[in-house]
Amino acid sequence: MSKEIVVSGIRSTGHLHLGNYFGAIQNYVKMQDACNCYFFVADYHSLTTHPDPKDLKENVFRVVAENIASGLDPNKVALYAQSDLPEIPELYLMLNMLAYMGELEKVPTFKDKVRQQPDNVNAGLLTYPVLMAADILIHRAVKVPVGKDQEQHLEMARNFAQRFNNRYGMDFFPEPHVYRFNNDTVKIMSLDGNGKMSKSENVNATIYLSDDDDTIRKKIMKAKTDAGPTEPNSVMPDYIHNLFLLMNLTSTESVIDTYQTAYNNCNIRYGDMKKQLAEDMATFIRPIREHATELQKDHDSLRKILKEGAEKAHASAAQTIEGARKLIGINYY
Ligand code: ADP
Ligand code: TRP
Repeated sequence: MSKEIVVSGIRSTGHLHLGNYFGAIQNYVKMQDACNCYFFVADYHSLTTHPDPKDLKENVFRVVAENIASGLDPNKVALYAQSDLPEIPELYLMLNMLAYMGELEKVPTFKDKVRQQPDNVNAGLLTYPVLMAADILIHRAVKVPVGKDQEQHLEMARNFAQRFNNRYGMDFFPEPHVYRFNNDTVKIMSLDGNGKMSKSENVNATIYLSDDDDTIRKKIMKAKTDAGPTEPNSVMPDYIHNLFLLMNLTSTESVIDTYQTAYNNCNIRYGDMKKQLAEDMATFIRPIREHATELQKDHDSLRKILKEGAEKAHASAAQTIEGARKLIGINYY
């Protein structure tokens, strides 16, 4: 049986954080043996926010280095830069003819960006989900390991695939679906309780894979808590739930049990819990950070990895574009 096709991308907009790790990369690593995986750095997508050209290369290399340091094996997957596959913008252009202004304007992530950057509401922001659909459909992927925040984009990718199939030929594109290992919906909140951990927002309340031990300690000790529960077995406020989630992901079972029991018995001391979590988190991140720092210095190896990744990805992308052109009628020779 042929392996299922998997695609996912991470934008090169800054340092990777725990949300990227537990919401995305950890799933990539679990899929790399069983599936036919295409993972890429979404550098075109990052242009919607006009990054400084002098930062772009370092940002792309960092995403690659941090993915490998987190366990991704470039020999098992195609790891490439979006801009190295010219078939993606070609498919994006084709899909743009099937995407409607009305539906694009309604996308919540677009509306957020309009609010965040009112002086730069460019067409790339509006068609962001179309480019993302092209990233996925170019390999005719069925599984897309992404966090919960990307579900709406996936629904749009399915709509575009269906529209293409209805217009030009049934079943050319399979429907891609969000994939989560063990059906986990991991969403890591920012430590100040405001929104999610993110590459470019909430930076003081986001833990990055590049943070050193002391920075990790400082950030965790500043995490939002309260006076503690007053009723046994209370429901946790979401910022406390987030600390327990992080503890679940990095601490031992007996540590988790101790604090869970203390919470349920209303005698939890958040200061102690944060101290413990900070040490466990520092131990967890240290080897990833050290490996990524080493890799990032080695530009020759990173270039080679990206080049080989693009070659693997090109083989599948070229087939899709040839098929799409034929179905649309762009085959004159
Ligand atoms: P960011 O929002 O930090 O710029 P991206 O948009 O590039 O990150 O997301 C890359 C992947 O990481 C996506 O699959 C996304 O769903 C996941 N992700 C990002 N932030 C979080 C978070 N806080 N919790 C869980 N998953 C996240
Ligand atoms: N939009 C995604 C995010 O912000 C990144 C992305 C771009 C992506 N293209 C993709 C994810 C294709 C999965 C598949 O997280």
